[in-house]
Amino acid sequence: MKILYAASEAQPFAASGGLADVAGSLPKALVKEGHECAVVMPYYKNTISEQQQKKIKFLTSFNIPVGWRTQFCGVHTCTTPDGVVYYFLDNEYYFKRDFGIYGYYDDAERFAFFSRAVLEMLFRIDYKPDVINSNDWQCALVPVYYHIYYRYNNELRNIRNVFTIHNIAYQGQYGMNLLEEILSIPKHMANIVEYDGDVNFMKGAIEIADKVTTVSPTYAMEILDPWFAHGLDRILENKKYKTCGFLNGIDTDMYNPAANKDIAANFSLKSKAGKKTCKAAMLEEVGLVAAGTSESDEPVIGIITRLVEHKGMDLVKNAFDRIINLGFKVVILGSGHPVYEQFFDEMKFRYPDKVAFTKGFIPALAKKIYAGADMFLMPSKSEPCGLAQMISLRYGTIPIVRATGGLKDSIVDYGDSGGTGFTFQTYNSDDMFDAIERAYDAYRDKKAWNLLTSRAMKADFSWSVSAKLYIGLYEELVSWN
Ligand code: GLC
Repeated sequence: MKILYAASEAQPFAASGGLADVAGSLPKALVKEGHECAVVMPYYKNTISEQQQKKIKFLTSFNIPVGWRTQFCGVHTCTTPDGVVYYFLDNEYYFKRDFGIYGYYDDAERFAFFSRAVLEMLFRIDYKPDVINSNDWQCALVPVYYHIYYRYNNELRNIRNVFTIHNIAYQGQYGMNLLEEILSIPKHMANIVEYDGDVNFMKGAIEIADKVTTVSPTYAMEILDPWFAHGLDRILENKKYKTCGFLNGIDTDMYNPAANKDIAANFSLKSKAGKKTCKAAMLEEVGLVAAGTSESDEPVIGIITRLVEHKGMDLVKNAFDRIINLGFKVVILGSGHPVYEQFFDEMKFRYPDKVAFTKGFIPALAKKIYAGADMFLMPSKSEPCGLAQMISLRYGTIPIVRATGGLKDSIVDYGDSGGTGFTFQTYNSDDMFDAIERAYDAYRDKKAWNLLTSRAMKADFSWSVSAKLYIGLYEELVSWN
């Protein structure tokens, strides 16, 4: 089978969140399973490194309609060592921007252009996919444009469209005035994208794609509930028959304690001693233990996240003094809402030998925290999948999570058989603190903790299972032809 994976970001080229990890690793797994997989993404010339750009070669160019105008689109390509072909769609006006990859006044137009260009590209390159898997609101117009403009085209007929929701909170919601002028959607087809009086990109894809997937089975259920759905529960309830959830995998080469060069010492299930070295080195790097001091026995909690409310930061804020008083050190890496940035700055000032806070996202430091912390806290209000808890397990770092979305599907509570972490149910700081206390007690029992970290490191969250689920879904769609 030939699969085209359309995403607005993909590792290792451009990333703002978990979508990039998935777009960088699922295609690799599909190729490993014997299928052809190509990724198409915008050519962000200010984000993709110069070194990477040297390997990317120009292929072709054409013009495409955007509303009443015509815009240039260049296609550039490279093939990764894993055999995934990348297509980068170039238009400097839309994608060569200075301040990151999203957040501009014309994002609707930028990604409408991209989505149309994904389909137009197929007339000009030597790759005709059986299935296009589009991701999140930025690519949600791919199935919509396919339906409107290409499904009866001789060359492109019989392509099946899968749409994957990574986070329903971001839908691409705009005024109806964009419909014809910017989005090139004829008025008589407005019903595809219209929702609650607006144009809603994600609703369009849910309406029209052959299948809708999301990134964990629990999240697939949760988004039928208004508490999680940000308004889309009604359309999802309608389209339940074609919706399902597959748990994401992680890139086990990128996150490998036995081989990573970024961490102070390598370790594995068979020889875990290096983790202690990683803990001491990480604490020293973030300024918590003076050089030469031996590793302290205080448990360390790592937090790596965007500092926003739905990641549960209000619970952390609420229980912070109690966590420190219990005897923890806390190492935080992330940026986001000023309320939380200021809070963690203040905590660092209040507890200089217990709290380290690094603003921003530094991939190498993230690995050091995964490897060096004892526990990893993710008290999310909602979490479509979450990758950090799976990455932590791989480094023998025990997750403390709220049982929601993919966190619920990936972490078994310590109290249950085969437990790999500590979970709590209700969104409440007392319940979170209770899970943290249980983790503290378990940590004090060295033998039990050693067994727990071994179980964590044995957990398999590679793509081996989920890639097959995607393939099964694609095969079902192809069999319709
Ligand atoms: C989004 C979700 C996260 C998920 C990731 C990859 O970032 O918020 O939970 O793991 O997408 O699917």
